[in-house]
Amino acid sequence: EEVKVFCPATVANVNCGFDTLGFALEGIGDEMVIRKVTTPGVTIELITGEKLPMEAHNNVAGVAAMAMLEGIQADFGITMEIHKNIRCGSGIGSSAASAAGAVYGINQLLDTPISNLELTTYAMKGEALASGNEHADNVAPCIYGGTTLITGYAPLRIIALPPMETVYVGILHPHIKIATKDARAILPKNVPLKDAITQAQRLAGFVASLYEWDKQLFVESIQDVLVEPHRKQLIPHFDKIKTVSKEYGCMAFGISGSGPSMFAFAFAKADIDNYLAASKAYYKQQNLDVDTYSSRI
Ligand code: HSE
Repeated sequence: EEVKVFCPATVANVNCGFDTLGFALEGIGDEMVIRKVTTPGVTIELITGEKLPMEAHNNVAGVAAMAMLEGIQADFGITMEIHKNIRCGSGIGSSAASAAGAVYGINQLLDTPISNLELTTYAMKGEALASGNEHADNVAPCIYGGTTLITGYAPLRIIALPPMETVYVGILHPHIKIATKDARAILPKNVPLKDAITQAQRLAGFVASLYEWDKQLFVESIQDVLVEPHRKQLIPHFDKIKTVSKEYGCMAFGISGSGPSMFAFAFAKADIDNYLAASKAYYKQQNLDVDTYSSRI
């Protein structure tokens, strides 16, 4: 018995929801093949696209799968193939896709599948191996699809938000690697009250804008006063690319997860495509390779 799973790339934080908001990218992601076997345990048979540990206990997909098999007291084992299209350290949820894909696939092999919420708790165990702490803002949208909001970790509570209607997203991935651990280490432990209030207003505005589909409120809400000012120094030419995004009509721009990828939103596909082409040309002048992706949300 085997299943093939598509594991979408995801954008976490979305500026106003650090460790809280995330959405899945349509059509960009990894593939996994999960097989049910009689021998207990987890075996990784093949990894393509990236060099990653083959031992299950050192691999995010392996750790998530082991946590799930133990949690559900499985009387079987699994083997898996992981075909990576999402670059590690790119900021669009590479480790989350592996962890989420593993548990999502195993679930499809169960006679009585478990809930997306439970799947997320197991996937977080794998994600923690890669990033040093258990957060779900990438794994949740990877499992649920669409846009998710985490309203609490103890207990874990996830809300699937209404879709962002008619929004196109562009991803720009400059070829440098940023470890999430490092990008978290540079953040201040305390923030000014006025910034905390601004960020709370933005997140509340973002959520309200989706329920009422208020375009103006949506655009105004996707801003980040807490994290971007610290992390942008890790991304070459961040301010320039932000300016380019505005020049080409994008209505929101920010760091995807812990970077270095950046996301931009527009209401027209042509705006995203033109912005990505211009940014790529700019980076080329600076001798920096980039990948670009565009997608509906
Ligand atoms: N919320 C996380 C961060 C996402 O920005 O550190 C990256 O895993």
